[in-house]
Amino acid sequence: MSGSSIVCHPNTSPRSAEERAAILSNPGFGRYFTDNMVQIRYSDDLGWHGAELLAYGSVTLDPATNSLHYGQSIFEGLKAFRRNDGSIATFRPEENARRFQRSAARLAMPALPEELFLDSIGTLVTQDAAWVPADHEKSLYLRPFMFSTEVGLGVRAAKEYVYLLIASPAGAYFANGVQPVSVWLSTDYIRAAPGGTGEAKFAGNYAASLLAQDTAAREHGCDQVVWLDAVERRWIEEMGGMNMFFVFGSGPGARLVTPPLTGTLLPGVTRASLLELAGELGYEAVEERLTVDDWEQGCASGEISEVFACGTAAVITPVGTVKSSTGGWTVGGNEPGPVAMQLREHLLGIMHGTHADTHGWMHTLVPAAANA
Ligand SMILES: Cc1ncc(COP(=O)(O)O)c(C=O)c1O
Repeated sequence: MSGSSIVCHPNTSPRSAEERAAILSNPGFGRYFTDNMVQIRYSDDLGWHGAELLAYGSVTLDPATNSLHYGQSIFEGLKAFRRNDGSIATFRPEENARRFQRSAARLAMPALPEELFLDSIGTLVTQDAAWVPADHEKSLYLRPFMFSTEVGLGVRAAKEYVYLLIASPAGAYFANGVQPVSVWLSTDYIRAAPGGTGEAKFAGNYAASLLAQDTAAREHGCDQVVWLDAVERRWIEEMGGMNMFFVFGSGPGARLVTPPLTGTLLPGVTRASLLELAGELGYEAVEERLTVDDWEQGCASGEISEVFACGTAAVITPVGTVKSSTGGWTVGGNEPGPVAMQLREHLLGIMHGTHADTHGWMHTLVPAAANA
């Protein structure tokens, strides 16, 4: 990339074209990684320095590394797509760059400049362009992350950090067509409390969610957990790693409701984009609080026709059944609803270049000509 401050020392023994093709034919999620990664170091003395693209490989840590003990660790997630015109692009990466800065601020970590975040993505995807799958349902998942590297057991914000960017080819989220998920309403465990770290993409939030997710799957046979507010345990917040939308009514007059960003849920890039798109497609789209009772009664009366979750991984996932300690109910006949599917098609169309990108949301990483 021109103007990049990242020094490139690419992998001298990358995987063969045959090995890569075999992986790309069935990549799954997060199982395989490309040949290279980007690393940038930070210290209070030097600021951000030593930006380098290098062979993907292990990181060696002293056992007393601060983040292993006190968990200063944040991440992001976004995807690179091979578009219809042959270019490779990501979706609103500057939003991920800004969220990464906000997560860093909450965890008393240094802010990586937005240009450096975007440069790291452009540099890695340009180098590993052959790893971006051609198939529309597949993508190259990008995982920027940062953790403290200072050695010492004092409980305080570290003075040294590393930022790493790795990339992993990702398969179709729904291999057999879009399937609604079943959800468990978690009242025993909470994900985030007011004043906590819920709106940061902080590793500890995910660690704290695993027991509830396991319990939902093992004891209640549910695919996902829906998190309720920590105080009253009745306001709906989000689902696993996704935000939620509730569709009241149907057809052109439908009203889409998503819980407001109270500080305890993650401000999803997909959520923000759908709020805009839904309005443009003629729906009323609002941020409003909603209780579990509103959800159950809305489904019983037929007022709520669809519920879906949204996020980078699956774009849109319909919710088909709900279970809680007091019972359960079905949403929209346990079938994907028309509003969810229309929004999904539209957003995927923008990402892949079959729908006009009127907002300038797509950020080209590798132009079509360079990628021919
Ligand atoms: C807890 C949580 N909520 C919501 C989302 C959806 O965010 P986005 O649309 O930016 O992927 C994610 C994924 O990043 C998440 O981890």
